Amino acid sequence: MPGQVIDRRQVLGGAAALAGAVALGPPAAASDTLKDRAARRGLFYGAAVQVGRLSSDPAYRAAIIRESAVVVPEWEMKWGALEPSRGKPDFARADALMDFAAENGLEVRGHALVWFRHIPPFLTKDLAPEEWRRAMLSHIERTAGRYRGRMLHWDVVNEALEPKDGRPGGFRKAVFGEILGDIYVDEAFHAAQAADPAAKLYYNDYGLDYTDAESEARRRATLAFVEDRVARKVPVHGLGIQAHLQAGRPFDAERYRRFLKDIAATGVEIALTELDVKDRRLPPDIAQRDRAVADHARAFLDAALDERAVKGVVTWGITDRYSWLSATKGSMRDDGLTVRGLPLDDDMQRKPLWHAIAEAFDHAPSR
Ligand code: G3I
Repeated sequence: MPGQVIDRRQVLGGAAALAGAVALGPPAAASDTLKDRAARRGLFYGAAVQVGRLSSDPAYRAAIIRESAVVVPEWEMKWGALEPSRGKPDFARADALMDFAAENGLEVRGHALVWFRHIPPFLTKDLAPEEWRRAMLSHIERTAGRYRGRMLHWDVVNEALEPKDGRPGGFRKAVFGEILGDIYVDEAFHAAQAADPAAKLYYNDYGLDYTDAESEARRRATLAFVEDRVARKVPVHGLGIQAHLQAGRPFDAERYRRFLKDIAATGVEIALTELDVKDRRLPPDIAQRDRAVADHARAFLDAALDERAVKGVVTWGITDRYSWLSATKGSMRDDGLTVRGLPLDDDMQRKPLWHAIAEAFDHAPSR
């Protein structure tokens, strides 16, 4: 395949042999997985994965296969990861994920075709706007076209809104918008639809969950964004709510239900696309933290899953062992302890959060 730098077999290695060789303990009962508890209500559960670890960590691979019906690459399908040098795309990791999903009967969410972060180094501000536009459209055509008919969703545009920047429509002051005008959003969605008419096309964003003024402004801008595109027949099929939660932060379930109802009234579907729970406001005691994290997530999921337009839940990782939360300023704990914001702990054992998600599925109205 042109430009393929790493052979995909190198990425996944002899994973099958590895998995076979390593005794991973008794398999969980069939109904006792997040994907089965979700499916029983017509929902899906999935997790973000780090592709290389699917071959380097058999216990991680087994947990993903056991619990998830959907996988999303944590970074391996971002433009900066796919085209580190101009005109030399490297799809080995992305192809490896698609192969893994196909081999294990999993669906894939593509993430993310256009995002102002993790972009290729050749996209610099001295490049003419027409060059940016041509590069963006050919990236979308090449990437979404490569997996045509095989993607459940594409996050076509990620995090385009930032009301704090004071721009019209609450658009973010960042590349793409600044260089191409905010029309780049519509162009991206139309290009993605042309490249893969079968995929559901999502707009994905964060900071929509709480009742402070900033979150209210983000919800207002997001609703207007969706309404405007639906009215102009821009192919936005779904809203991805990242749902990076913070235990200990006040959550207003009724306000949240109203927001989801307003979004659903536009006709688009909704998915919770990056659920995890920061615990830096909580004391170090593990039992206390796990309980508070589980209760917080449960309250949020009960409100969110009451809205039938919500089709599923993806956690941003499956195990605390590899969570971005423990490696990122703003979510790392001051005491340096591992953040416990995902369903499985460092040893791939189920935590109260796993049970909270499972029980939220059990109590959700069937789709
Ligand atoms: O690119 C290198 C790659 O060449 C190298 O081989 C590999 C080896 O580990 O590392 C890669 O680097 C980093 C990658 O994570 C893997 O650790 C990237 O430099 C780094 O930018 C990347 O960070 C990801 C970040 O998005 C940017 O893509 C995080 O893992 C990922 O959790 C984070 O996810 C974002 C969502 O996409 C959008 N919503 C917020 C969320 C959290 O920030």
